[in-house]
Amino acid sequence: MRIVMATQNRNKVREFAEILGGRVELVPLPSGLPKAPETGETFLENARQKALFYAAYVEDPVLADDSGLVVPALGGEPGVHSARYAGEGADDGANNDKLVHALRSRGLRQAEAWFACALVLARKDRVMLEVESRVDGFVYDEPRGEHGFGYDPLFSPQGALRRFAEMSAAEKHQFSHRARAVRELLARIPEMT
Ligand code: IMP
Repeated sequence: MRIVMATQNRNKVREFAEILGGRVELVPLPSGLPKAPETGETFLENARQKALFYAAYVEDPVLADDSGLVVPALGGEPGVHSARYAGEGADDGANNDKLVHALRSRGLRQAEAWFACALVLARKDRVMLEVESRVDGFVYDEPRGEHGFGYDPLFSPQGALRRFAEMSAAEKHQFSHRARAVRELLARIPEMT
């Protein structure tokens, strides 16, 4: 099966390819397409919006994702704004700094948090499958580790002593929201009509 991956984020494409192994052929979006709107208030709404937007341009099914970090003690921030928490075009370092400051300004050294990943598979004008998965854990007020991307240096999944950024890719995928969502989606592909 060939699936067009509707993201420009190279870290995410790499992780999807690692998790899928050879089971699905992932191809990038053709170049030159406009940027899909991302105006939803939930991860699922954003993933649906992106999948349907790009599915109108290509023959193969399109897989779109939306993911992010939710910290209930910060009112759910960064949430759907995870990629641009510290402003449009902010890099991972700036987003992590902002999260650390947000925690410290509330007197928190750590807080419960989860990563969520919504996946939507669409073909032409139709949603074929959608799933949302999460990994619960904690965020901390100082970064650790060099691997991964995004908020990985600040997040430890429940039951692990280390941050995602201190784990190898294979270890992270044992816990991650993205790996769980992909497994669920693959299990449901036979449901597609
Ligand atoms: P999206 O491209 O709109 O889905 O934004 C996702 C953002 O959420 C990323 O840029 C990261 O900041 C954050 N994020 C999502 N998944 C992960 C992860 O596995 N590790 C660390 N940060 C993540």
